[in-house]
Amino acid sequence: MESGMKATRQGDEMISRPSWAFAALRDSDPPGLIARGRKTYLCEFGPHLSEENLRALYRHATDPEVCHFNGFPPLEASLAQFGQEMRHQARRHEVRHQVFVILDEEKRLIGTIEYHDYHPRRRQAWLGIVLGEKDCWGKGYGRDAVRAFLGYLFQAMGLKKVRLRTYGFNVRARRCFEKCGFRAVGSAPWFDGLEDTLMEVTQEEFAQLVEGW
Ligand SMILES: CC(C)(COP(=O)(O)OP(=O)(O)OC[C@H]1O[C@@H](n2cnc3c(N)ncnc32)[C@H](O)[C@@H]1OP(=O)(O)O)[C@@H](O)C(=O)NCCC(=O)NCCS
Repeated sequence: MESGMKATRQGDEMISRPSWAFAALRDSDPPGLIARGRKTYLCEFGPHLSEENLRALYRHATDPEVCHFNGFPPLEASLAQFGQEMRHQARRHEVRHQVFVILDEEKRLIGTIEYHDYHPRRRQAWLGIVLGEKDCWGKGYGRDAVRAFLGYLFQAMGLKKVRLRTYGFNVRARRCFEKCGFRAVGSAPWFDGLEDTLMEVTQEEFAQLVEGW
């Protein structure tokens, strides 16, 4: 086990967790908690999602500024259609792709974080994050959530490498990811022709950084 890691028992499986993630569930924890940062909670995207949470996710998915940074056009579906799709997704379990919600200190839903293209044999996956609440930008929530999520991916899931892509113009995102251990390893055009920066971090690199956090 890396130094600075705590161990906890879940079922029969021993799981190591970063010291800033949870060692044991507390009564006050939100439902579906998978990791806890210093100012964020990461929770499963489950049937416990409230109407208020669904409305927040819908606002994020239809906000042109959020979508501009995220690289997808704003959603055109209605709230009802969106709610139906989200409830469907919450019941489905895909091995290769899982989405989690990010809650702030007040347990307000501020965004989502996900892994996709998870490759169990290579023990690699891609990471995506969107903070849809714009009043949260630049206040360390992204860094906190990404660090907690990397702890989950490397320690609980045993991944060896995590990759991501972000627009070259998205300086805030890039700085946030660098603070979590990601290095730029190249660039490539996204489907819209804009330049993407590719970044990655290995389990070893992350473990070394955790020591200083
Ligand atoms: C990208 C995102 C997750 C980052 O989370 P965040 O909480 O805003 O970022 P943090 O506060 O943790 O870190 C941001 C860093 O950029 C700096 N920063 C903030 N606003 C900035 C700006 N407009 N331009 C350049 N740098 C900026 C901050 O000072 C901080 O750097 P520092 O730690 O060296 O001081 C979040 O802003 C977001 O979801 N944005 C919209 C969608 C998006 O861009 N998604 C990423 C797709 S890959």
